[in-house]
Amino acid sequence: MTVAKKFAVIGNPIAHSRSPEIHQAFSKQTGIELSYERILAPLDGFAQVVQDFFAQGGNGLNITVPFKEEAFALCDVLTERAKAARAVNTLWMKNGQLHGDNTDGAGLVNAITTLNWSRNHSHILILGAGGATRGVILPLANAGAAEIVIANRTLTRAESLVEDLSAFVKTTKLQVISLDQLEGHFDLIINATSASLAGEGIQLPNTLTFNYAYEMAYGKPSSFIDQAKQRGVPTADGLGMLIGQAAEAFYVWNGVRPDLSHFSL
Ligand code: ATR
Repeated sequence: MTVAKKFAVIGNPIAHSRSPEIHQAFSKQTGIELSYERILAPLDGFAQVVQDFFAQGGNGLNITVPFKEEAFALCDVLTERAKAARAVNTLWMKNGQLHGDNTDGAGLVNAITTLNWSRNHSHILILGAGGATRGVILPLANAGAAEIVIANRTLTRAESLVEDLSAFVKTTKLQVISLDQLEGHFDLIINATSASLAGEGIQLPNTLTFNYAYEMAYGKPSSFIDQAKQRGVPTADGLGMLIGQAAEAFYVWNGVRPDLSHFSL
């Protein structure tokens, strides 16, 4: 009899995480038996929860808000994309060493690919320069972007992000602008700010045009998506990215890639 593998997602809060249902669906699709729990870690007790989970024979953990940076700091071994992101959303133990990866960017690239948006995404504009942006720049660059422009309210934050990432991003041109310099044409615009969640949507001027619009958040009203729709631009929210990062974590842990072509929750 095969023993089911043990996985979980840790966050605070965690009650609304959709990761268990996504991984259960992957399990059903691939025949890999697993359990997948939600674990609420106290804000000052994350490291202990991770240690206990692996001590009790757990196979892998996903990490969500607000622990991704702390997870990064705990790891003995990191993938290149985790180093670039300085944040970890996927953990596993191998030969007594804690390994960390960041699958968020691969999830975004995968989601965009799965959408079948027809053109190549060579010139990309990202709104925001926080953790969400940091996690996706290297995978977007590696997917073939010629130029990524990062627009942020606080310019210095975007500048230091680009400085950090320049060690990892080789051929893609990284540019920084402030939110009042939004203009020109882009193949793809991505909202990685928390502005729409706070109900304080960023106004997209008419001098800014784009073919496709991706909102990283999901399940909430988004003024970013509303504005793109008003222009007749195809849009998507972050549910596809969530499913994509889960699929990539599943692959990292199990060596099997779930088929996302007909996947829905
Ligand atoms: P995350 O980890 O989700 O990226 P974060 O690190 O707090 O969260 O970053 C939030 C991002 O949303 C930042 O780029 C922030 O801009 P600043 O760096 O200038 O703070 C952006 N943001 C949040 N509220 C905003 C608002 N009302 N208008 C514009 N940008 C906003």
